[in-house]
Amino acid sequence: MQLVFRDRRVSIKRAFTTAGALVCAFTVASACSADVKPTPTDGVHSAVVHPDAWPKVKWPFAHDAALEQRVKSLLAKMSDEDKVGQIIQADIASVTPDEVRKYRLGSILAGGNSKPGGKLSGGKAWLELSDAFYHASVDTSDGGLGIPVLFGVDAVHGHNDVVGATIFPQNSALGAMRDPALVAEIAAATAEEARATGINWTFAPTLTVPQDDRWGRAFEGYSEDPAVVASYAAAVVEGLQGKPGSADFLDNAHVIASAKHFVGDGSTKDGKDQGDAEVSEENLRDVASAGYPPAIAAGVQTVMASFSSWNGEKMSGHKGLLTDVLKGRMDFQGFVVGDWNGHGQVPGCTNEDCPQAINAGMDMFMAPDSWRGLYKNTLAEVKSGVIPMSRLDDAVSRILRVKMRLGLFDKGSPSSQISDNPSYALGSPEHRAIARRAVRETLVLLKNHNGILPLNPKQRILVAGDGADNIPKQSGGWTLTWQGTGITNADFPNGQSIWGGIHEQVVAAGGTAQLSVDGKYTQKPDVAIVVYGENPYAEFQGDIPNLLFSPGDSSNLDMIKRLRAQGIPVVSVFLSGRPLWVNPEINASNAFVAAWLPGSEGGGVADVILRTAAGAIDHDFHGKLAYSWPRTAVQTPLNVGQKNYNPQFAFGYGLTYKDKDTLGTLSEVSGVKDSVVAPGLYLQRGKPVTGLALQLTGADGTSVDEVVAPARSRDGSIRITAIDYQAQEDARRVEWSGAGAASVALHAASKLDQDRQTNGDVLLVTTMKVDALAPGKISLAVACGDKCGASVPLDAMLAALPKGEWLRVGVPLKCFREAGADMTKIDVPFRLQSAAKATLSIARVALGTDVDKLVACPTH
Ligand code: BGC
Ligand code: BGC
Repeated sequence: MQLVFRDRRVSIKRAFTTAGALVCAFTVASACSADVKPTPTDGVHSAVVHPDAWPKVKWPFAHDAALEQRVKSLLAKMSDEDKVGQIIQADIASVTPDEVRKYRLGSILAGGNSKPGGKLSGGKAWLELSDAFYHASVDTSDGGLGIPVLFGVDAVHGHNDVVGATIFPQNSALGAMRDPALVAEIAAATAEEARATGINWTFAPTLTVPQDDRWGRAFEGYSEDPAVVASYAAAVVEGLQGKPGSADFLDNAHVIASAKHFVGDGSTKDGKDQGDAEVSEENLRDVASAGYPPAIAAGVQTVMASFSSWNGEKMSGHKGLLTDVLKGRMDFQGFVVGDWNGHGQVPGCTNEDCPQAINAGMDMFMAPDSWRGLYKNTLAEVKSGVIPMSRLDDAVSRILRVKMRLGLFDKGSPSSQISDNPSYALGSPEHRAIARRAVRETLVLLKNHNGILPLNPKQRILVAGDGADNIPKQSGGWTLTWQGTGITNADFPNGQSIWGGIHEQVVAAGGTAQLSVDGKYTQKPDVAIVVYGENPYAEFQGDIPNLLFSPGDSSNLDMIKRLRAQGIPVVSVFLSGRPLWVNPEINASNAFVAAWLPGSEGGGVADVILRTAAGAIDHDFHGKLAYSWPRTAVQTPLNVGQKNYNPQFAFGYGLTYKDKDTLGTLSEVSGVKDSVVAPGLYLQRGKPVTGLALQLTGADGTSVDEVVAPARSRDGSIRITAIDYQAQEDARRVEWSGAGAASVALHAASKLDQDRQTNGDVLLVTTMKVDALAPGKISLAVACGDKCGASVPLDAMLAALPKGEWLRVGVPLKCFREAGADMTKIDVPFRLQSAAKATLSIARVALGTDVDKLVACPTH
């Protein structure tokens, strides 16, 4: 049989040395291959698994009779209600401590946008919240058993939900270090900061092996290469949890880890988030699941089931993989947690009802806002036997074992467990130093023409670009907010921007530094450092149709060219979660550094690109590409080892100061033919995007299709004209006469599936302005065919808006779903209807998360 690791001996060896004996799973998959049977499905795309063909793993904990006895006797005391509560996890934005007490919920989470009191908060508020939920969970005043609650967050690059935390480089950056020991230090520091706020569980590490960089979550993966991911898995799990068998295992400085997303999240077709991995079983095992055996062997306590499917079958309901492979063959004895309402995507399930998932092997539902209905239905299914008691008991026992290993029953409240070691605090100097070291190790030098780097800090240096003094941009998604947007440098009291680091060192060395986002300067600089790249995104919001960098916006390139034309050499520092096609920018720059998403310690960039004041090189480049860099913007998927592998910069590439740069001029043919529209964008600069058309419907019910402004309905009850917003005629004014309900709508030529976005709490965002408004009904609606649709009233909200001011107004997509729309087949993603006499202006309609005014769902 074919073993993917065969030609990757070097990296695999490294996995062995760091993870030690625990990686016996890999001994099975490589050296002890005799033990692995060929998969009968080789090359055939089926969703049937053959567990015997998967690596055999050994769970590192010996049978513990005392613990088993304790679990058994607690389980014996639990009612059906207690048990069902135990397997449900609710989100802090949708549950109160009192409800945790009342329903005896086993766990809570804080999703990417869920904060104490609904606002960005520092450690104190988080700790108080942790305490409040803990105390509620152990309250036995109404006869409950008082089983303490687990509190999970996405501490995925540091304890990134909390203001003041150290923000480490994102995983795609860490892959470039090839340094498992440093990854373990980062994980340990993250665990310490989480415990400092009372959190005892992180949904990390992401062990995905992204195969297509168009995927919006590529930055969450360490590498496209399974061997690199495998080499980090045990290190990060042990950093977070401590080493099984050692005294520090799950002590007060460690947290429960979650290997995610099992499995195939990074193998989906076209890099579609939550999509379908159409790969053979062998490929799924050897590529996508490479990190799981070492993570399990290192004792990872939880595994998160993936949103995605394998050959058409949703992972959240895949018994073969969750039960037979993961828990059977791989001996995983922790518990399987679902992903954010992921169970609702299993055929036949809804967010409120899914016995299929539990029966397939999921042990805990992540049911952020759906937990009430889910509790009720699951309880009924337990009582009726649809969910066998043996399965429920197994799920509950697994959860209780994890809680006991963590010492949850014995250690008291979160705040009573805070370590007095000051270096464990949020943003401690020790943690920031680790992060800064990591930044230095992650930078990959792609071009260094004539050895322009390292720069002499005694010069006059211009620092330009919108990424220069922008900690949110250098941190990416999953930073303080889900998308990493809507925040500023002020939200990082312990952080430093890239400019901040350069400025500090240049001034200390006696040089001068000027910050200028647009590259204009007061005095001609000797050299310019231009920092630019991707804006933050997370999950499907980051899916892109090709690898073009900032399509339609050449401002960075223009700036670089302008500086060069003025005789100023340019060093590009490129911020991105993934490789993008930037050949024109590379050609235009004298040096080009792939800086990934370095996080809060921007000073690490200056450490490497500047000499010391004395002219020495303190830090050379270390980073080697863990993702292949594309030759064109359509070269996807592109992964090391594939047939006809022909990247621009190969996996493993990365110059040092000792190397001679021989890079010639790169091709500037992107390969992109059509102007592909970003998904989720409906109206831009006043015009519908390709595939959509504007329609006006008068109060008389007749419609005019494919309207181009200026236009009016037949009865004159609604008219549309072009107006100026930021540019000439880049917005539309819509006037309603008040003669009856008339509407302006966007019609899609083919149905839009907005299911993922609805599940993910995304908003329909309209950039608009109220010019004039009389009382009367106004609503925003979507339609999904003739008899399908839903609307949300807007009149009260619009009446309260300041007149004449452009604002982004957001309506949660889930309001439409709650009101009855089928979000999988939307053909009218936007219909604004008014019976009132009104004048409203509209510039843009798109799905998004950043708004000025959020509309609440109507209560039914
Ligand atoms: C993501 C997970 C995350 C969870 C909780 C999901 O949407 O896929 O990675 O752990 O939300 O925030
Ligand atoms: C939450 C994330 C979650 C996502 C699901 C967001 O609203 O904040 O934690 O991962 O929805 O797609």
